[in-house]
Amino acid sequence: MSDPAAGFLAFSDASPTPFHVVAESSARLVAAGFVELLEDEIWTAEAESSRGIDGVKRAKVAAGGKYFYTRNKSTIVAFAVGGAYKPGGAFKIVGAHTDSPVLKVKPRSTKSTHGFLQVAAETYGGGLWHTWFDRDLSLAGCAIVEVEGGAFERRLVHVRRPILRCPSLCIHLQSGEERAAFKPNKETHLQPVLGMVEESLNEAADGDERHCPQLLSILAAELGCDPKAIKDVELTLTDTQPGATWGASNEFLSAPRLDNQIHCFTSLEALIGYAAADAAADAGIAMTVCFDHEEVGSESAHGAGSPVMGEAISRVVGCFGASSELLQITLRRSFLISADVAHSIHPNWGAKHDSNHQPKLNAGTVIKTNDNQRYATNSVTGFLLRQMAALAKAPVQEFVVRNDCPCGTTIGPIISARVGLRTVDIGVPSLSMHSIRETIGVADIATNTALFRTFFSSFEALDVKCSF
Ligand code: CO
Repeated sequence: MSDPAAGFLAFSDASPTPFHVVAESSARLVAAGFVELLEDEIWTAEAESSRGIDGVKRAKVAAGGKYFYTRNKSTIVAFAVGGAYKPGGAFKIVGAHTDSPVLKVKPRSTKSTHGFLQVAAETYGGGLWHTWFDRDLSLAGCAIVEVEGGAFERRLVHVRRPILRCPSLCIHLQSGEERAAFKPNKETHLQPVLGMVEESLNEAADGDERHCPQLLSILAAELGCDPKAIKDVELTLTDTQPGATWGASNEFLSAPRLDNQIHCFTSLEALIGYAAADAAADAGIAMTVCFDHEEVGSESAHGAGSPVMGEAISRVVGCFGASSELLQITLRRSFLISADVAHSIHPNWGAKHDSNHQPKLNAGTVIKTNDNQRYATNSVTGFLLRQMAALAKAPVQEFVVRNDCPCGTTIGPIISARVGLRTVDIGVPSLSMHSIRETIGVADIATNTALFRTFFSSFEALDVKCSF
């Protein structure tokens, strides 16, 4: 990777929502020679792509090939099959998530209060909502658009200029207690302003009447369609300020949605590198899966609690005619790295960390352990990860939460419980997790990518040496 920080900042700037994460990842995979599969095709190592006698399209999945597919356009699975792959070979999987805590536009969004035109917003996930005030906000997501012939398309939209704001309350209108608490009400205080109410608001609305004409015309201009053609929208508020490096030596990087776009990026970079250089001689399969809906518990048709992970393995193994016995053997040999951002020690809140577990920015990927199974790491999976890190010359750090502090969780325990994969939880350390703008260390981007790359290329050679 030439400049990991610049590479990530370009990825981040193109990715205001999970839909955009998937679109940007897909574009990068296609550019690297990966072939897109559709979930309603028959995948087989036997036939060339053609229409079978059953009328269902066939797609070839073969040793040495590289592929990806998406679900809901917000979850993406990408994999490279080793040139020496045989059924029973290990799946080496990095799992991350495409979503972040944000404000989303409500189904009926038009609001007018005291002459202000507002867009009603719903909180998604557990954000640090006070960080959303006084930012230059805009909208991104997707729209269902009616096209010629009465057909419908789902199109991405990303308005780049600031159009919305959640203004904070002037200091002199707050009591001392209100200032000290700064505890916004999630319903009443987080409703962004779009403009002032005009007479046109009362006129018959163009297109989807659940949203105001001003909003629809901004979207229509971006989409290049008539406002009447917009039939539905799924929109997220997004900070218009792009990510940037900062610090005396540019050693830090701040951006929106680092949780968890940083690992969508590093796992993608590692997979593309592996597929280009290491896959030809490999007997396993390297895979990255980036799921939607982690921030709200992963229970959806395309979250980590869905069949997506199990199906990805069984369908790919099935291409090679493997028996159900070989599928079970594959699962036992496979390994999941659950990658999600970790908590760096904070210079101003140092007491929040146990003195023996104080990961720092720019000091390597963090291995997260929680024996209460908020993280899936155990002694075996942690050991294997540390061995791979040594091989990659990538530093690692240890984290366990204080006993008197609540602990976050990840997709790791969910997938390991449902699919039975050996799993380790890791992540790049960060400050300000779930703020509208989070911070990581620049050096950790390259070492995290190197760790994933070594995992993809060297896991089986290490695993066969272990008799546990
Ligand atoms: Co996360």
